[in-house]
Amino acid sequence: MDDGARGRLTKDGIRIYEQADFAGMHKAGRLAAHILDEIAPMVEPGRSTAELDAEITRMVEEAGATSATIGYRGYQHASCISVNHVVCHGIPGDKRLKDGDILNIDVTVIVDGWYGDTSRMYVAGKLSRKAERLIQVTHDALFKGIEAVRPGNTFGDIGYAIQSYVEAHRMSVVRDFCGHGLGRVFHAPPNVLHYGRPGTGPVLEEGMFFTIEPMVNLGRPETKVLADDWTAVTRDKSLSAQFEHSIGVTADGCDIFTLSPAGRFHPTWG
Ligand code: MF3
Ligand code: CO
Ligand code: CO
Repeated sequence: MDDGARGRLTKDGIRIYEQADFAGMHKAGRLAAHILDEIAPMVEPGRSTAELDAEITRMVEEAGATSATIGYRGYQHASCISVNHVVCHGIPGDKRLKDGDILNIDVTVIVDGWYGDTSRMYVAGKLSRKAERLIQVTHDALFKGIEAVRPGNTFGDIGYAIQSYVEAHRMSVVRDFCGHGLGRVFHAPPNVLHYGRPGTGPVLEEGMFFTIEPMVNLGRPETKVLADDWTAVTRDKSLSAQFEHSIGVTADGCDIFTLSPAGRFHPTWG
């Protein structure tokens, strides 16, 4: 897919961005992360997910940015809000949060043509022990994946790092959704799988921009999409969690574009 950006494509069709492009991604990523920081105090029992989304829409507009999801394949909201056994792509609505609900909020903004895509977990009220364990393992699995990012490693190394960590904790990695290249476009090659074998897949090169966004289930990995054509849920109705960062490969590792300016990425921090 040619998105009109500068730089070259690898043989796998992965765009190699230039040094100067990192600044644009940092700016977009920082705004998305800031919005996720600012929404945190509103996540409380009694709040509807539509109210959270309305506030996110307002924040995107106030920043002079554009929502990447409004109008994307017919999607009409500035966020996806996925509660409890919803794996991803939960549609904001009138249903109100209850004490102990866990939820992922996923926001993608466009700033000066650059895409910033990030999601994290929240809790309404009191966090149960089993939900806390799921959230911790999912968070740490994302960082196991991020630690595997450096030139010369492969996308399979990232997937393997995530899958082996999750399965060691007797939880499962969702196979039906993956991370993705991004930059001047929302979704570009490659598919970033959250499972895999070491040494397989495309080789990582400096200048690649992509997301890592593992979804982890307490039960089995299978999902199904509801009749609304968006909401993905666990087939066995087990709890699911997800964290997402947008990153860029550097000479010796990676830059995380979507770090929380307030240090609030994890629901028990800040
Ligand atoms: N932000 C999601 C991702 O991580 C994509 C959401 S597309 C939407 O790739 F249309 F559902 F919003
Ligand atoms: Co994404
Ligand atoms: Co996202």
